[in-house]
Amino acid sequence: MDRAAHEADAPSLTIRAREPEDAAGMSALMGSPGTFEGTLQLPDMPVASRLEFLSKVEPGACNLVAVAEGRIVGCAGLHANGTSMRRAHTRSLGIGIAAEWQGRGVGRQLIARLLDWADNWAGVLRVELMVHADNDRAQALYRNMGFVEEGRMRNYALKNGRFVDAVAMARLHPNPPELSLRA
Ligand SMILES: CC(C)(COP(=O)(O)OP(=O)(O)OC[C@H]1O[C@@H](n2cnc3c(N)ncnc32)[C@H](O)[C@@H]1OP(=O)(O)O)[C@@H](O)C(=O)NCCC(=O)NCCS
Repeated sequence: MDRAAHEADAPSLTIRAREPEDAAGMSALMGSPGTFEGTLQLPDMPVASRLEFLSKVEPGACNLVAVAEGRIVGCAGLHANGTSMRRAHTRSLGIGIAAEWQGRGVGRQLIARLLDWADNWAGVLRVELMVHADNDRAQALYRNMGFVEEGRMRNYALKNGRFVDAVAMARLHPNPPELSLRA
């Protein structure tokens, strides 16, 4: 796809931090057909089942939403990997775009914003993720954004009646900040 056309396709899109009052819109997106299959969400779960954790501010995380025409059409987050200080330099990435907005550059924009946060503001050195082995679009996007494959988990998750493998991918900070030791 032509990059300029790709970016011009979403002129009215706003990307901003997720707020507690976004919980219902976020939950609807996470459970929607065309989006939930590539994640670990289940179909036909009540919107209310996700409200509690989506209403909380998550320590150490960056959670973004993409809003178009007053509706949340995409979300992406970098999540802390537990509380060990020895993993404090890492985050795990999750993302989901509404079916009718997929392939229009929203995922790329959201990940670019997350990586700016990670690289330039939060001191994150390693961003990692798991992606289903059959999710070609997601893997292509991640590779384009600097992620590399690190391994494969067999029979990782149940997906429409079959177990699918998952691919572990990660991106290391391309230019980590250095301390200046000048007095
Ligand atoms: C996977 C997902 C996050 C990608 O976001 P998106 O907004 O659709 O992706 P974008 O339009 O920004 O970019 C997709 C890239 O993959 C390419 N692509 C699209 N369809 C493709 C396919 N079937 N195979 C390979 N590449 C494909 C596009 O050309 C684009 O490449 P580019 O950035 O170099 O132009 C989104 O489709 C989604 O939410 N899917 C359902 C949930 C999901 O799978 N989440 C990921 C969990 S790991």
